[in-house]
Amino acid sequence: MSKCLQYPNYNLNGCACLKENSYFLGFRVIFPYRRWWSAETIAVVTGGNRGIGFEISRQLAAHGLTVILTSRDSNVGLEAAKVLQEGGLNVTFHQLDILDPLSIQNFADWLHQNYGGLDILVNNAGVNFNIGSENSVEQARMVVGTNYFGTKNVIEAMIPLMKPSAVGARIVNVSTRLGRLNGRRNRIADVTLREQLGNVDSLSEELIDRTISRFLQQVEEGTWESGGWPQSFTDYSISKLAVNAYTRLMARILSERPEGRKIYINCYCPGWVKTAMTGYAGNIPVEEGADTGVWLALLPDQAITGKFFAERREVSF
Ligand SMILES: NC(=O)c1ccc[n+]([C@@H]2O[C@H](COP(=O)([O-])OP(=O)(O)OC[C@H]3O[C@@H](n4cnc5c(N)ncnc54)[C@H](OP(=O)(O)O)[C@@H]3O)[C@@H](O)[C@H]2O)c1
Repeated sequence: MSKCLQYPNYNLNGCACLKENSYFLGFRVIFPYRRWWSAETIAVVTGGNRGIGFEISRQLAAHGLTVILTSRDSNVGLEAAKVLQEGGLNVTFHQLDILDPLSIQNFADWLHQNYGGLDILVNNAGVNFNIGSENSVEQARMVVGTNYFGTKNVIEAMIPLMKPSAVGARIVNVSTRLGRLNGRRNRIADVTLREQLGNVDSLSEELIDRTISRFLQQVEEGTWESGGWPQSFTDYSISKLAVNAYTRLMARILSERPEGRKIYINCYCPGWVKTAMTGYAGNIPVEEGADTGVWLALLPDQAITGKFFAERREVSF
């Protein structure tokens, strides 16, 4: 079996995938699930009450971890956790609205008191109000607020609670290829801005936030259509572009942590999945949509960080 140059501890399944995917960067990485976790390993999933988040919760719990399934609505969250508990899985519910700073704080306090922190954070919660070929930006503030700022606020609150570990704690952000910087279609027209956002060495939170603010301002002024923004699902694509850039930025910042306190952070695109978000029109089931997220969360001790994946393969930002 040949070895992957990028991740030499892993085996490859050949390079046939090169033909399938023009923006594919590496080999498909396969590893036997080397079990570094136990029932003491705590995984938090946002938006776990349905769709991909529910399935990620189910798969992580089925691997033997303790899963904290969170949901902004306590009734549906409790119900979702109950379904998994009845299947014999170790799942606990707690309320978490990623748009509400008080809810984030309450959750962080509860997590600290009851579990002493967490090992894995899956930022899955997200919104998109466009379906099919619609492209309204009426809800742009909500979309960007939830997908980018909400995710960022949860990460900031959880980092101090991430447990020391020889294999590293992990953050997985559920994103989308629609948010790619250099996709052939659906990208920001301004080449300089793309280069700035793509340069991980000079990337800053200020640049990401300023880009988002400029878009939201143009939405308010009614000038966004000539602003050179992505053409499909514009608000959603920009929100996830920001999530991707923030993932790379945080990977750089977190890489400075000492051994034993490392946190690895990656993002991935689940594909076009049959969930409420796509009006159940997606072409893949939630089991597949959750797969790469679970795979990233359970990577053996290998410092894969600041990368973007789809179908367990690294793709370009
Ligand atoms: N489906 C796809 O094809 C696709 C493709 C690429 C990326 N994604 C991403 O995958 C993730 C999951 O999407 P999905 O397809 O499973 O959609 P979904 O079924 O609509 O689930 C979205 C989840 O996010 C939750 N959520 C929304 N706002 C929240 C908030 N403020 N606080 C906490 N939770 C919140 C929702 O809670 P409620 O039930 O309370 O609304 C729901 O649990 C999203 O980040 C999405 O952008 C999906």
